[in-house]
Amino acid sequence: MPTTVRALQGDITQLPVQAIVNAANASLLGGGGVDGAIHRAAGPQLLEECRRLGGCTTGDAKLTQGYRLPAEYVIHTVGPVWHGGDRGEPALLASCYRRSLELAAAQGIRSLAFPSISTGIYGYPLELAAQVAVSTVRATLEELADFDEVIFCCFSARDLQVYQRLLGEQPDARPVPPGQVPGD
Ligand code: AR6
Repeated sequence: MPTTVRALQGDITQLPVQAIVNAANASLLGGGGVDGAIHRAAGPQLLEECRRLGGCTTGDAKLTQGYRLPAEYVIHTVGPVWHGGDRGEPALLASCYRRSLELAAAQGIRSLAFPSISTGIYGYPLELAAQVAVSTVRATLEELADFDEVIFCCFSARDLQVYQRLLGEQPDARPVPPGQVPGD
């Protein structure tokens, strides 16, 4: 069975997938954005486990338990800060997606959700980041055929539109052709 790759809008801490990816920083000791939301939802044991990991370099990823999250595991990856695009940002961002998938496959994880790494506090332009995200996940899944589902979890409707376009998906709200009743 080929892996389903899709985008949805929502809060990644609520998703019933086996693992969620965290857009962390190199300390792995928490922060704002999706990192803060994941630590709040998982509870203090997540920070305890993170303290033992000794940080993480940009482009790499580390795995922990999910504690109070619906997800069994959290994969913490550190995206690049956007400096204009000529400091290796695309390769580092691609590495986040590839390393996260490799770690998940090694753990036997079959369903995984990514946030839009680096596109919040780290300032990576959404369109450019989403291109890296979609192309890297597609390329990596050609080598690692171990997944049932990979989700791009978008926080905003605008982000969702970008991911859906790149994935070749139709947005949910399709215009209804004249003369047709919605839901028919
Ligand atoms: N579910 C899904 N996506 C979310 C959620 C959520 N609950 N909350 C925010 N996002 P950011 P970065 C989206 O800033 O740019 C932290 O302080 C958000 O709208 O969380 O990689 C870390 O500790 C955006 O689309 O991560 C680092 O210091 C995306 O998640 C730094 O921020 C990523 O935004 C990392 O910055």
